[in-house]
Amino acid sequence: MKIAVVGTGHVGLVTAATLARIGHVVVGFDDDRSKVDRLLAGKSPFYEPGLQELLDEASASGRLTFTHDPQGAIRDAEVAFICVGTPSRPDGDVNLLAVERAAGTIGENAIRDMVVVEKSTVPVQTADRVKTILQRTGRHRFSVVSNPEFLREGSAVADSLHPVRILVGANDDEAHRVMRDLYEPLIRDSVVYHATDISTAELAKHACNAFLALKVSFANALARICEASGADVVAVADIMGSDPRIGRAFLDAGLGYGGYCFPKDLAAFRTQATRLGYDFRLLDEIVRINDQALESTFAKIKEAMWNLEDKRIVLLGLSFKPGTDDVRESPPLRLAHLLVEAGARVIGYDPRAGANAKAEVADLEIFDDPYAAAEGAHCLVVCTEWPEFAELDLVKLKGILTNPIVVDARNLFDPEVMAGAGFTYIPVGRPTVNL
Ligand code: UDX
Repeated sequence: MKIAVVGTGHVGLVTAATLARIGHVVVGFDDDRSKVDRLLAGKSPFYEPGLQELLDEASASGRLTFTHDPQGAIRDAEVAFICVGTPSRPDGDVNLLAVERAAGTIGENAIRDMVVVEKSTVPVQTADRVKTILQRTGRHRFSVVSNPEFLREGSAVADSLHPVRILVGANDDEAHRVMRDLYEPLIRDSVVYHATDISTAELAKHACNAFLALKVSFANALARICEASGADVVAVADIMGSDPRIGRAFLDAGLGYGGYCFPKDLAAFRTQATRLGYDFRLLDEIVRINDQALESTFAKIKEAMWNLEDKRIVLLGLSFKPGTDDVRESPPLRLAHLLVEAGARVIGYDPRAGANAKAEVADLEIFDDPYAAAEGAHCLVVCTEWPEFAELDLVKLKGILTNPIVVDARNLFDPEVMAGAGFTYIPVGRPTVNL
């Protein structure tokens, strides 16, 4: 099938490369000329495991090209994917200007009937608006489809090539048939294929992300109670998770959730619910508990340091989660801001996100080696659970820190091992190990 992908950000690029991999002929369109030039030179604009290889393979096959010429992108396409950004407005509502522009671009350049797919996360009923724009700008028949993406940063390529589920919302049988054909190579026994109406698909995406955020906040609320009672939140989560009705995933207490999706999607879902007449206050509470998780970590560092002025605090991990260089809405960077404001000297190390972090927090001093970063620090804070941090040489680390104090905001280390290594070890929702 001939496909146009409008928008070459995280979702667009992974979608384009995946569709090319499964045999479709794909043109990625972006109005950002420098981004397109970079892609034409064969370089992924961001780090995502396996993406560079997938792009290389797709380009070599001749099935994936990029352009900033809208006509060239849309002209031959039977299906166009809208994969543009849907950022938050200051009031939490979603800014859908890029979606409106993408729909306009598709409408203006279409020379045949087309299926237009919303891949970007959008509020329920956005498809009606997209359809209106397409009909206003184009002369052809457009079927709008909602096909939300569930890929996670850090495993986006694997998620895209081996999806657990595929969700397609359409209001006509022909569009459903086209989408089923398009995804046929990915449909295996293990994949649940949901074919629904458009509104159900749009809403389901926000429901999924809000529920996952709810699990994280539930774990963080439990962590506060465990800290006050001496219980162990990791053991509580394991016990809860052994009940298949609950599941263990997304019950890790820590520094709270961040990233491009959860904060924005929760705010958007809250606004939509209100607009539709439902006061979804539970979503406010999820956000409040999430903020509290960060404040709690800050309070632990402050308590351990007494005065933060002149203290050298090293943050291990700056991305919002492991496996990515993305620092959007990153809890570690929010923590860095709080520490800088409190007068601390903040040092950061991250296997991938150092440069992006520095661009966001000018006062952050970035090192490209964890031991160099930790040299002389008064406190080491584990902010992102990169697996390689668990392999650090604890004896060496203890030798170079000014104070052997570790605040483990992701419960990465084993408390007994940390006690054995001679650290004051302050985890989340588990008893502190004091020297
Ligand atoms: C999320 C959804 O998982 C994905 O389906 C959707 O398409 C986009 O949004 P992503 O933002 O990449 O994906 O990250 P995810 O792995 O879901 O983690 C979100 C945040 O929650 C991270 O900051 C992570 O550190 C945090 N988290 C996750 C926890 O704090 N505890 C957990 O137990 C799980």
